[in-house]
Amino acid sequence: MADLPELSSSESTVTPLKIAVLGSGSGSNFRALVQNIRESGLAVEIVCVASDVTDAGILNFAKEEGFATADIHPGKYKSTLEPDSETGLVRTLIKYDVQLVVLAGFMRILKHDMLGAFAGRIINIHPSLLPKFPGLHAWKQALLAEEKVTGCTVHYVDNGVDTGAIIAQAEVDIEPGDTSESLHARIQKAEHRLLPLVIRAISEAPKEYLPS
Ligand code: GRF
Repeated sequence: MADLPELSSSESTVTPLKIAVLGSGSGSNFRALVQNIRESGLAVEIVCVASDVTDAGILNFAKEEGFATADIHPGKYKSTLEPDSETGLVRTLIKYDVQLVVLAGFMRILKHDMLGAFAGRIINIHPSLLPKFPGLHAWKQALLAEEKVTGCTVHYVDNGVDTGAIIAQAEVDIEPGDTSESLHARIQKAEHRLLPLVIRAISEAPKEYLPS
């Protein structure tokens, strides 16, 4: 795992990094991030939360907490977006002056304008130690492969599936008797700590992590 700073409760004087969070699911990573920003003075401003699922937990929580939200047109494909939908998303994110796009359980593969408009500025959290087990249900893949250790990875997004450069990883032991549910739950706990750590590192040294 990269050398990342510990979370602290000190207030930062750095200009907040403007981020957008994209998700399709319950939004537990988003909740953990919001809590971290509030409790540890992360110099990060969540300017927009966007989802392709109208009633996703992430979107409901964002609305309850008063964040700006955006609907992403789901279109006719399951795992990608139509080009127009990505173009619309780019427009929205540019409108909010987004500097970093965080995929937190976003179940679509970006293929079009997003990758060009936000090249090097999109990160994803994935529930395995990449390059092992890309794709869906990575914790199940790790169990089936009889691994002893798995974990989670934060990586840049490129045009492949979970193939972009790795920023940081956290290991999670696979215990005897682990089920798919118990393992996934422990990986998610690790995710909830790792993602804010990475975002803190980026916010404190944007020139090191983001293109100029
Ligand atoms: C996480 O496990 C993440 O690794 C994967 O999708 C899940 C999202 O969970 N990409 P949540 O919506 O943050 O609870």
